[in-house]
Amino acid sequence: MKKKIAFELSVFETEKELAKEEANLLQMAVTARNKAYAPYSRFQVGAAILLGNGEIVLGNNQENSSYPSGLCAERVAIFYAGANYPNQIIKSIAISATSLEHEVKEPAGPCGNCRQAIAEYEYKQKSPISVIMRGESGQIFKCSAIADILPLAFNNSFLSDS
Ligand code: THU
Repeated sequence: MKKKIAFELSVFETEKELAKEEANLLQMAVTARNKAYAPYSRFQVGAAILLGNGEIVLGNNQENSSYPSGLCAERVAIFYAGANYPNQIIKSIAISATSLEHEVKEPAGPCGNCRQAIAEYEYKQKSPISVIMRGESGQIFKCSAIADILPLAFNNSFLSDS
């Protein structure tokens, strides 16, 4: 037996095709991106998280001379949300990436570690977190849940037998 796992990705040509709230969130991710601390990779990423109460939390990548000590934009933002708004639902995360070396023309998906970190909150709140992604230019991708882009994810159900 074989099982096929698939998901639907929404593709937009411009931000004008997005709902107003989503276009605004993506714009906030761009603003955050421009404040990234990325002197080593010169690859700047911004993340903007929309909470259930309408507040928006921002994050960007924070690099370190000891490279593994740095952190991606998505985790900076999601951990800030978790730390400061533990009772708020996380509705959506917009991610925008650019490079000081070349134009990023395609959406850069969140790395595996970030997918896992975001998934934790999706399991916790039992409602989907949509992900909106864009490079500096080009198409915008949207997936309606982090689970879609992290199939067969590890989660806390494996930690106990209940
Ligand atoms: N980066 C992010 O901020 N998010 C990702 O999902 C992928 C990569 C950052 C980490 C590092 O500062 C730079 O981009 C190059 O990998």
